[in-house]
Amino acid sequence: MDWKGITVYVTGGSSGIGLESAKQLLDKGARVALFARGEQALTAVAEAFRLRSDQPEVFSLSMDVSQWNDVELKINETVDRFGAPDVVVNCAGVGAVDHFEKIDAAAFDQVMAINVSGSRNVAAATVPWLKKNKGALVLVASSAGFIPVFGYSAYSTSKFAVMGFAEVLRYELARFGIQVSLFCPSEVDTPLLEKEKATIPKETRALKNFGGVLSVEVAADKLIKGIEQGRFLIVPGVRTKILYWMRRIVPGPLYRFGADFTAMLGATRGG
Ligand SMILES: NC(=O)c1ccc[n+]([C@@H]2O[C@H](COP(=O)([O-])OP(=O)(O)OC[C@H]3O[C@@H](n4cnc5c(N)ncnc54)[C@H](OP(=O)(O)O)[C@@H]3O)[C@@H](O)[C@H]2O)c1
Repeated sequence: MDWKGITVYVTGGSSGIGLESAKQLLDKGARVALFARGEQALTAVAEAFRLRSDQPEVFSLSMDVSQWNDVELKINETVDRFGAPDVVVNCAGVGAVDHFEKIDAAAFDQVMAINVSGSRNVAAATVPWLKKNKGALVLVASSAGFIPVFGYSAYSTSKFAVMGFAEVLRYELARFGIQVSLFCPSEVDTPLLEKEKATIPKETRALKNFGGVLSVEVAADKLIKGIEQGRFLIVPGVRTKILYWMRRIVPGPLYRFGADFTAMLGATRGG
């Protein structure tokens, strides 16, 4: 796939997977619009991109994906000032890891608002343009969207929802020539992972060790290759692929026995 001149919108573009995907896409010749809430970080990233190469076409705008009015306004402004998207990658997302009883209502609601409603809002504001351009929409879920993870009562719930949402969109939007993709990595070395360290239970650590950790460079490369190959489900890394198939093939009671046993070992051995 030739990315030259392709307009890509990347939410969560100021950090982690979104930032690295934007960087790699710009290197391939794409035009990139970046979105995140924090304006200062976003402007700094856009400025750094402009300095990196001769004529990078970069645009940035502060936007909160959980607020529909803001998303509608900012996407329309971006279409006017930078051009309509050919590809949209929704990387904006937040984590939350702790025992269920320590995740209060406000924290739970915030995860759902950003990860679930955010996916809906970004899709709703961009699909009309993607229809016109026969473009691609990428939603970022997680392996925690197909495997229930101890300590992820909010996060896994939100990512299971994103998986369901993407399945439905794929179904509905295929007839308009829109390619929908769902990116499901296990751990990726980003600031989000760093933040988790403060509250991660030992049981969660033990379970997550199965998936391994990908560098952000490899994760973004797999995401972009998945788009190029027109894949719906993009599961990067051999270990995460094994987890995906294990969850589908191993009967539920046996799977849950293994998961409970791993959590118990994690609790006694310290993760
Ligand atoms: N890292 C992992 O291990 C991992 C594994 C599987 C899946 N994922 C998923 O990958 C995505 C990216 O994660 P990451 O690890 O790259 O995280 P990250 O480094 O923390 O970056 C998150 C990005 O999302 C933006 N963001 C957060 N809330 C937002 C909102 N309401 N509106 C707009 N932008 C918002 C952040 O900027 P502001 O805070 O300034 O808004 C930042 O740019 C998330 O959906 C995450 O769940 C990550």
